[in-house]
Amino acid sequence: MLRLARVLKIPIETRAIKRSWLIDEIVIEFERREPEKIPTPKLHSPAIQIEHLEKRFGSKVAVRDFELKVNPGEIVGLVGPNGAGKTTTLRVLTGIIKPTKGTVKVNGFDMFKETLRAKHSIGYIPEKPTCYPSLTAREYVMFMARIYDLPTEIALVRMRYFVDVFQLDEFLDSYIGTLSKGNLQRVLLVGIFVRNPPYVLALDEPIYGLDPRGAWNLKALLKRLRDEGSAILISTHILEVASELCNRFVIMNEGEAVGRGTLDTLLSNHKNARNLEEVFLGLTGGIPQ
Ligand SMILES: Nc1ncnc2c1ncn2[C@@H]1O[C@H](COP(=O)(O)OP(=O)(O)OP(=O)(O)O)[C@@H](O)[C@H]1O
Ligand SMILES: [Mg+2]
Repeated sequence: MLRLARVLKIPIETRAIKRSWLIDEIVIEFERREPEKIPTPKLHSPAIQIEHLEKRFGSKVAVRDFELKVNPGEIVGLVGPNGAGKTTTLRVLTGIIKPTKGTVKVNGFDMFKETLRAKHSIGYIPEKPTCYPSLTAREYVMFMARIYDLPTEIALVRMRYFVDVFQLDEFLDSYIGTLSKGNLQRVLLVGIFVRNPPYVLALDEPIYGLDPRGAWNLKALLKRLRDEGSAILISTHILEVASELCNRFVIMNEGEAVGRGTLDTLLSNHKNARNLEEVFLGLTGGIPQ
């Protein structure tokens, strides 16, 4: 950090320098210089490809013969009742658990043959966020930047930007183990966004747990990232959010895809339904009378 400050010719007059002050100075200096933009790599199309996926837990079939593609520039909503198999699908997609059958590819890389490259390409927010409790939020984000080979100066500028977006300033030097669920979720999001866009994202219930402002900021950010070419798969129970955010939907029930398409396609295939909620209820046990 000190070396970087010297290279940038930031005047260091006092012997007792606070690390957070130095970081702020470096960020301000980089913003002033408008560092050259890193060329944004193009994503493979489809960026997410799941084929013939089956996942069994003993005799329980959690997911069966499941297909899904997400292209760059799309947000796809994975919706379905509790126990439908959404989290299981995302855990296979991100290489956390192995499929019983089928393949998953991320940015063209097979998750179980080219694991490192595939994992390197995807950002994941789990349903139950967990993280290293004895790192501070700042240490975690910089650790992620190092894993993803990001130059420190770029990481610092991005961290500052996303810390502002998610209003994390006062928690930057808090231990992760002390954060509330929503703030932990925000830190994990900053840990993803510190990397180079465009992103391939698998987000399991990312809105749930955020307060209204956090949710609004995340939705706005996801739309912008989508428009800039990221590929986003999002599981959610909040159908209002799904309708507003997603280009297409896959409705899961008991491990299978029971409906898919844009909202218009789904509505024209289900004449009795007036909105996504009614399509969903119709396909997953019927609309309650
Ligand atoms: N590790 C496991 N061992 C045994 N069964 C499991 C395991 N993980 C998931 N299951 C089962 O697989 C099915 C699908 O679970 P999953 O968590 O994927 O559902 P979901 O669609 O994410 O539900 P929710 O909306 O409640 O989050 C459920 O019946 C669940 O009990
Ligand atoms: Mg789930």
